[in-house]
Amino acid sequence: MCGIVGYIGNQNAVNVLMNGLNRLEYRGYDSAGISIFENDSIKTFKKVGKVEALKGIIEDRNLSSKIGIAHTRWATHGEPSDINAHPHSDSFNNISLVHNGIIENYSTLKQKLIELGYTFKSQTDSEVLTIFISYIYSQVKDLEEAVRLALSEVEGTFGIAIISNYEPDKIIAARRGSPMVLGIGDDELILASDTSAIIQYTRQVIYLADNEMVVLDANGYSTKTIGNETTTNVIHQIEYDLGRIEKSGYDHFMLKEINEQPQTITDAFRGRLLIDEGNSRLGGLSIIEEKLRNAKRIIITACGTSWHSALVGEYMIEHLCHIPVEVEYASEFRYRNPIILPDDLIIAISQSGETADTLAAIQEAKQKNATVIGIVNVVGSTISRETEAGVYIHAGPEIGVASTKAFTSQLAVLALFSLYMGRMRRVPIIEGQRIAKELSLLPEKINQILENADNIKDIAHKFYKSKNFLYLGRGYNFPVALEGALKLKEISYIHAEGYPAAEMKHGPIALIDKDMPVVFIATKDEIYEKMLSNIEEVRARKGTVIAIATEGDSQISKFADHVIYIPETLPMLIPILSVVPLQLLAYYMAVELGRDVDQPRNLAKSVTVE
Ligand code: M6R
Repeated sequence: MCGIVGYIGNQNAVNVLMNGLNRLEYRGYDSAGISIFENDSIKTFKKVGKVEALKGIIEDRNLSSKIGIAHTRWATHGEPSDINAHPHSDSFNNISLVHNGIIENYSTLKQKLIELGYTFKSQTDSEVLTIFISYIYSQVKDLEEAVRLALSEVEGTFGIAIISNYEPDKIIAARRGSPMVLGIGDDELILASDTSAIIQYTRQVIYLADNEMVVLDANGYSTKTIGNETTTNVIHQIEYDLGRIEKSGYDHFMLKEINEQPQTITDAFRGRLLIDEGNSRLGGLSIIEEKLRNAKRIIITACGTSWHSALVGEYMIEHLCHIPVEVEYASEFRYRNPIILPDDLIIAISQSGETADTLAAIQEAKQKNATVIGIVNVVGSTISRETEAGVYIHAGPEIGVASTKAFTSQLAVLALFSLYMGRMRRVPIIEGQRIAKELSLLPEKINQILENADNIKDIAHKFYKSKNFLYLGRGYNFPVALEGALKLKEISYIHAEGYPAAEMKHGPIALIDKDMPVVFIATKDEIYEKMLSNIEEVRARKGTVIAIATEGDSQISKFADHVIYIPETLPMLIPILSVVPLQLLAYYMAVELGRDVDQPRNLAKSVTVE
């Protein structure tokens, strides 16, 4: 969703800000803008469309400034337009503000400001906040205090950055429920809503806490809470390399990230997989070991692709640990007054660590005294900080909006977690060793699937004009069917549905005709024969079958029109392999259709609004 960059230092701020906006493009946005100082006054440029369009209106102006703020907007209040784009200014262009999040009481504030004689140009809640700060400044004549007092009255979420003619040597920033990171370089400070806009300049960062403000000037930075209390900060190191956020020769980030999976799975296992002991070591959970031992039920909550990995996790944990598991959409969990018992364990899964619904579900669970742990990718993200303990998946930055490597790394971590919990309870060492050994073989097996990409590309070429797809799987492959369908929808805009294969005859079978390709994830397991029957039912109605099958399966080619083979592994680990050809299939179809694979329409990488 929206992205923020701010800069203060000796370089030309315009270059750093525009570069930062490029780095934030992956989050999904519809307009971009920048405010800097020129001849001692604020100059703002903003444009609907891509950052490239903004570049087009500033590149001949030779702009130069030591301070500035910039933004990519994902519309919430008001359509994507030049006027609604950020930064927003107050009536006399004395304050310029960029904002991520939603000001929930903006209409009350707006009404009050209208009564005081203020006027508005845009339809946004962010302009209301800008003018509200301006109004308070007119009373208190101190910018920092005006920002602090205004934010004390605001309801909702925000990450903001402000520059002002009143105090032109400063940037003031603050956050509540929307991430904000401060990069500390040599003689320069870079502010951003995520580290990808910072890493080129410095690896030293501070993650602002909720309700924290920071003031930056040429001498450094100082922080305090919106409640006016002093705060102390820990400086963290960004651990990934710049190469992780560059395409490195691939046509798209999504393709790069699909191909990174042998490495990202290896990274998820590093230092954690104990083959001889048939166990795993998850350091981030050691502080709650006793609670894990006593857990009587697990509730996993997440959204989107992370919700699909939660479903796989449910099967894994119930299978190895014999603990009942429930999987909840975070957006439902938060509003339906869930029953949480004293020995329940809540797991929140999130790639970004910023998803608003997942965060709200965590707050709801904490409110009810539950133990909440996180399985998160982005280090220092809000969910990683709001949970009592957790496990990072260490997939590195995921830039493609469609989640790929984060999904398989979530599954890898869920497998480690199930093994760890299972060994505490009922899994004997021999079985533990077998699982751990199989886990260690997964990166090489993913490599083998990737080597077969040309076959998948050919299949994509045959089917990319289809208007609808069905994805069917059973057991561990049912969530994979959901994920395969979601991937296709997200990046190709082809309509696709995922179902448990046996459900087909209860309704979706009515859709089957010669124009309906059906993807069966039919790997060898105890329900394989039943999958063959389901395939027959589709064939009998002239549907076309694409099967994901296990290498060495000599039967399947008699049933399916096209087969993609994957290596054999334990049933509980199959999703980590079977999803990879589906990611590639979606990717190649989207490319055939000329879609914007990395930034599909309407989608945002981290969904920080309800
Ligand atoms: O960052 P999260 O894992 O919490 O995000 C959840 C969903 O928004 C996300 O998985 C979404 O469905 C992706 N676009 C899937 O590709």
